[in-house]
Amino acid sequence: MTIAMPALYERVSRVVPKAEWLSYEDDVAAILALKKSRNAVILAHNYQTPEIFHGVADIVGDSLALARKAMEVEADVIVLAGVHFMAETAKLLNPEKTVLIPDMGAGCSLADSITPEDIALLRAAHPGVPVITYVNTSAAVKAASDICCTSGNARQVVESLGVPKVLMLPDEYLAKNVARETSVEILAWHGHCEVHELFTASDIHELRAAHPGIVVLAHPECPPDVVEAADFAGSTAVMSDYVGREKPGRVVLITECSMSDNVAVHHPDVEFVRPCNLCPHMKRISLKNIREALEHNRHEVTVDPAIAVAARRAVERMLAV
Ligand code: 13P
Ligand code: SF4
Repeated sequence: MTIAMPALYERVSRVVPKAEWLSYEDDVAAILALKKSRNAVILAHNYQTPEIFHGVADIVGDSLALARKAMEVEADVIVLAGVHFMAETAKLLNPEKTVLIPDMGAGCSLADSITPEDIALLRAAHPGVPVITYVNTSAAVKAASDICCTSGNARQVVESLGVPKVLMLPDEYLAKNVARETSVEILAWHGHCEVHELFTASDIHELRAAHPGIVVLAHPECPPDVVEAADFAGSTAVMSDYVGREKPGRVVLITECSMSDNVAVHHPDVEFVRPCNLCPHMKRISLKNIREALEHNRHEVTVDPAIAVAARRAVERMLAV
């Protein structure tokens, strides 16, 4: 079904000014036509800008939802509006499909913080301790691990292993935040998300003083004292569900900027206070380069077959938890 342009604008009118939308219409129309002619779908992470998230995406969500839904895709082409590890995960789960990322430079500070060689050294230092890697890692790192996790299922994955001690890599803060919720001992690495590490507990105290009654939701990639100062912590999808379920009068999402815009579209009665930390990697994706990706079949994401089997096993093991 084709959605008329005015109806599409109506979706985002609360967060995208009309004049700005007019500059997007040509690319939106071209992308909608290209999706049909190429039998393509667009998967978009919650941090994509609203004109992408609400304007052209077919499947949206957190890292866990994108991985799960990538398995069900029937199109020939998947365009990943997100960062490189997400596109690699989609390729691992759809080896026979064409997976495109509009900008190969869309990386992640967490994925860059650890290599398979680091994991080999950790295994040697902690023999027999299972390695859980966050999905924010390269396929090569996933292949060197026992199982993956996302911020939406990290505690369940830890507890599913039935062991007293695990290595959880590479996000130090996610590992420490999960450690507060479980009796399993968690050994961490020193990777950080360059967006979430910027938030401080004093930011939260200042927000509470400036906006009495505000509900503070934080992402578990934030430092533990930030999560402790918040009312609730969870993945991007869990935060979005919280707003839908609890309908707070006034809320702040301690995470990447675009997330509040995307959630606000569905909740006109909720006031969103928006401290803004942008992810420079997520922001490399635009309507322009999504259109070019579909027009020129670029940039194709491939995974070395020598590592794909082991990496897929780690992702599929997570999805089975
Ligand atoms: P989730 O959407 O899984 O919470 O991850 C957040 C993130 O930083 C992805 O890069
Ligand atoms: Fe990586 Fe953080 Fe950007 Fe997510 S927000 S892609 S974790 S740098």
